[in-house]
Amino acid sequence: MSEVNQNAPKKGTILRWLDDRYPLISTWNEHIAEYYAPKNLNFWYFFGALALLVLVNQFVTGIWLTMSYKPSAAEAFNSIEYIMRDVDWGWLLRYMHSTGASAFFIVVYLHMFRGLLYGSYKEPRELVWLIGMMIFLVLMAEAFMGYLLPWGQMSYWGAQVIISLFSAIPVVGPDLALWIRGDYVISDVTLNRFFAMHVIALPLVLLILVFMHIVALHKVGSNNPDGIDIKKNKNAQGLPVDGVPFHPYYTVKDSMGAVAFMFFFAAVIFYLPEGGGFFLESPNFEPANPLKTPEHIAPVWYFTPFYAILRAVPDKLFGVMAMGGAIAVLFALPWLDRCKVRSIRYRGLSYKLLLAMLTVSFVALGYLGTQPATPELTKLARIFTVMYFAFFFVLPFTSAHEKTKPLPKRVH
Ligand code: HEM
Repeated sequence: MSEVNQNAPKKGTILRWLDDRYPLISTWNEHIAEYYAPKNLNFWYFFGALALLVLVNQFVTGIWLTMSYKPSAAEAFNSIEYIMRDVDWGWLLRYMHSTGASAFFIVVYLHMFRGLLYGSYKEPRELVWLIGMMIFLVLMAEAFMGYLLPWGQMSYWGAQVIISLFSAIPVVGPDLALWIRGDYVISDVTLNRFFAMHVIALPLVLLILVFMHIVALHKVGSNNPDGIDIKKNKNAQGLPVDGVPFHPYYTVKDSMGAVAFMFFFAAVIFYLPEGGGFFLESPNFEPANPLKTPEHIAPVWYFTPFYAILRAVPDKLFGVMAMGGAIAVLFALPWLDRCKVRSIRYRGLSYKLLLAMLTVSFVALGYLGTQPATPELTKLARIFTVMYFAFFFVLPFTSAHEKTKPLPKRVH
């Protein structure tokens, strides 16, 4: 900091009073006004800001829903109907929240895919990626517990299936499942604890993790579609020549992304709130009935790739391990990929083919997870499961000797 701070608020102003007691201006400068981001950030870089937007949407609508929702097995389903029919704007709050959950996963999956495109998980951003993966885990737990709350048929039976998976773990499994449910079946007790986790415990963890994610990112700086380090090329003032201050450049650009996103988001909320049975499944419009199993139990779309992997393995324990493994390998990605070049623009053919294979298998598994497990589809799911894992097992070998293109000196 220079001796005379040009940006310091004038003496006698409220801002100055605050700034003398709280690092207001310096935080704003460090993280926004004088935070230099690469000037070539493209479409794929909208999704971090959009994830923040959806996070805020889930918090605000969630708090409002909690004002009318009743977390008890006797009242939960009816309280949702009450919100939908009688609470002023209740239908909008509920659909913003339920559609928001799916939007969250769309945005986060695209955000993660960007990481794979441009090697954002590589040194020095390994921690940004690891914290991101923790966010992903907590987000899945958050969505899973939220889905029990409407106490519909799929809420009930979906939770029944997933919790019973824990009982496949040797020795402690059955006791663990009992401990999670708090009962021998999903019951009022389960609903109460899921409510507590969904409305306070997990959102708190999520918020802390998102904060840490951004702190870690700002320590090392954003990667970019060329994957080259903008900090290496500075002008006489010590500012990166290929960087622009986050504000106003990216505050404006991200706002444009936010408006475009809200346009699609509103269209779904107003015209297709159930997402064709993908966002809200039709059995969930029936109250939970412990005596009647739905014909076909499938989780919501964002879990189906992992669910398909679970079902593709004949043994329950190995199925659970494969499903857990499919998520766990993503944590190891920064160390599995040994290529020095970050961006797909300058990487060899092997990485492009591997990433295409991962993408196709993930989408195909996602589809198969929504379908009944017929023998033919199960065979297909096995092929795609092998393809999914092949990405992670082949990558360490191919990436070490990849034929990459020369990197540019400046970003494009
Ligand atoms: C609530 C969820 C999340 C929020 C709010 C969030 C927020 C952000 C923001 C604001 C950025 C900077 C803007 C951008 O690069 O798009 C960012 C960057 C990043 N995020 Fe996330 N993120 C979330 C989840 C994740 C997940 C699940 C992962 C991966 C497992 C991840 C990995 C990354 C990486 C690697 C970067 C740096 C990208 C680069 O510089 O190229 N994030 N995140």
